[in-house]
Amino acid sequence: MFKDEKISKFILENKIEIENIKPLCKHFEKCGGCIFQNISYRTEKEIKLKIAEKNLNFINNLKLTFFESKKRIYYRNRMDYSIVRKDNDILIGLKEYGKWYEVVNLDECYLLSEETSEILKRTKDFIIKNNLEAYDLINKTGNVRYIVIREGKNTKKRLISIIVKESFPIEKYSEEMKDMANSFVLAINDTLADVSFGRIEKYIGETFSEKVLDKEFIIPPFSFFQSNTEMAEIMIKEAKEFLDGKSLADLYCGVGLFGISFAENFEEIIGVEIDKEAIKAAKLNSIINGIKNASFVEAKVEDKIKDIKSDFIVVDPPRAGLSNKVIKGIISNKNIKKILYYSCNIETFARDLKKLSKNFKIHENIKIFDQFPLTKHFELLAFLEREE
Ligand SMILES: C[S@@+](CC[C@H](N)C(=O)[O-])C[C@H]1O[C@@H](n2cnc3c(N)ncnc32)[C@H](O)[C@@H]1O
Repeated sequence: MFKDEKISKFILENKIEIENIKPLCKHFEKCGGCIFQNISYRTEKEIKLKIAEKNLNFINNLKLTFFESKKRIYYRNRMDYSIVRKDNDILIGLKEYGKWYEVVNLDECYLLSEETSEILKRTKDFIIKNNLEAYDLINKTGNVRYIVIREGKNTKKRLISIIVKESFPIEKYSEEMKDMANSFVLAINDTLADVSFGRIEKYIGETFSEKVLDKEFIIPPFSFFQSNTEMAEIMIKEAKEFLDGKSLADLYCGVGLFGISFAENFEEIIGVEIDKEAIKAAKLNSIINGIKNASFVEAKVEDKIKDIKSDFIVVDPPRAGLSNKVIKGIISNKNIKKILYYSCNIETFARDLKKLSKNFKIHENIKIFDQFPLTKHFELLAFLEREE
């Protein structure tokens, strides 16, 4: 029924009634980008709610609130497309569902914006015209590997990063593509890892930024930022009812989105993040937004958790969730009285809440933000208060 067997099984087991629709994109069958294009948004919402409910049924009086995304297409502010060589052809697009070595060449893509197809087509033409070699994923040879496009939905800025193994005429490319973006980055990834970031060699044009509510955030080319700006605004607004404390520690803070957005509610805030570039940006972001009570530390949360003096923490870990060391650190650090837990992974979220529930009461109202329509993913928010 669906490309994802686990989801298909879940739908059958839970007798969810599917309302089918015609997929919008001609690449839907093969492409790994979206899996829910063939069902209505009503059904997508029902599936996501059911998944959340099943995973969180250990919470007393559980009440789930689902925040729909106003846009089901063109909602993302970042997309990473592979550039590969196959036989004598160059393909630019997303991986085939479940196949790291196959790329679906995309003539259209509905996740970022209408201009995407033109950017991808002109980039391919540029590679061909300039005799550049695209990367061969299987033999691990070749040069041009990824194009990453970031868009400030509210600033109307666009940044195009090209990731290569060796070299790329980025000045010439930026000149030819200047009607499509206001900044360009050339980055080198000469490792065997198939990742869409690298060592920045050149940054041409404006500093990239996005506005979220009344704050502006500088975002380095490869640092994390919430990928659906409109939903990020709702995620911030919906946390406000829980913000009550003296000092806030924003753990896994990225470029400071939550800490800076919540700064006026606390006497002081501190952000902790492992990505050096994100921390540099977070410091700048507090300055450009006139925030005077913030400091940011480049560190692993694991190494800082025992020293946190704040009574209120926000955690927004990567998909793997909180490590055992962080969970133990939170439980044994008695300064910490309240936790806001944001997560993009229902399984690790449920696992961590269970572990924390021995010492913290989980507020029954769990919020679901549909950051990623057309995919199986969604964002969650829980509020916890220490019980001992
Ligand atoms: C889901 S993102 C959240 C970022 C930020 N809260 C935001 O909303 O933009 C997770 C962040 O955690 C960082 N990270 C991953 N592992 C970490 C660790 N062990 N300690 C500190 N930061 C970590 C990543 O670099 C990434 O910026």
